[in-house]
Amino acid sequence: MCNVFSAKIPKFGADNNTIAMKNVQLYDKSFKLYLTYEEILKAVDAVAQKINNDLKDEDDPIFLGVLTGSFMFFGDLMKRIEFPCEMCFIRLASYEGTSTSGSVKQMLGLTKSIRGRNVVVVEDIVDTGTTIMELDRILKDAGARSIRYSSLLIKPGNYRGSIKIDYPALSIPNDFIVGYGLDYDQLGRNLKDIYVLDVEETEKRKSINIR
Ligand code: IMP
Ligand code: MG
Repeated sequence: MCNVFSAKIPKFGADNNTIAMKNVQLYDKSFKLYLTYEEILKAVDAVAQKINNDLKDEDDPIFLGVLTGSFMFFGDLMKRIEFPCEMCFIRLASYEGTSTSGSVKQMLGLTKSIRGRNVVVVEDIVDTGTTIMELDRILKDAGARSIRYSSLLIKPGNYRGSIKIDYPALSIPNDFIVGYGLDYDQLGRNLKDIYVLDVEETEKRKSINIR
């Protein structure tokens, strides 16, 4: 197995309270701690509260997790939803390395029909908005009655979409991040905290040729 983490991931405590690693190395890139799991959960709590208020009387809501990046947010959010609801998934991909490829591939179609349903989309991060615009088209074609958008993170400085994100948990600058479901070339998704690309450290390591 390749050793891509700079430090050993601490054992996950039963109290969910493992101390966050300060730095992580994934392939050629160094990352530093940006948001702890505790801070993330506070934001998830707030979004869940708003959704619980807005949708408690909604007819037959269905939550749609956008794979792969949203799996941790989806799990923590759904544990906080206080009304009966269904769930389904779709898998889209647009990123290559640390930037968007500009086109969205549908890797796995909707796992359930959403025709006539009130859909709540659960996304990991909205960056340029390309993915969410394509998703909106897919959901309208599939006959959704209404569509609401939640996203753990949004980069307002990069957003070029025309869709309103109804439930953004956290706004961040245009930096590249990993952890809590988000990846750099498929690695880093299992980190419970969120890390931001450390450009200086990455360059330093490159110049002295260590990974
Ligand atoms: P968009 O289509 O440009 O809005 O990008 C959205 C998708 O790109 C997200 O669902 C993620 O999968 C990926 N993405 C955007 N920003 C980041 C990031 O900072 N780290 C990891 N993945 C990202
Ligand atoms: Mg996503």
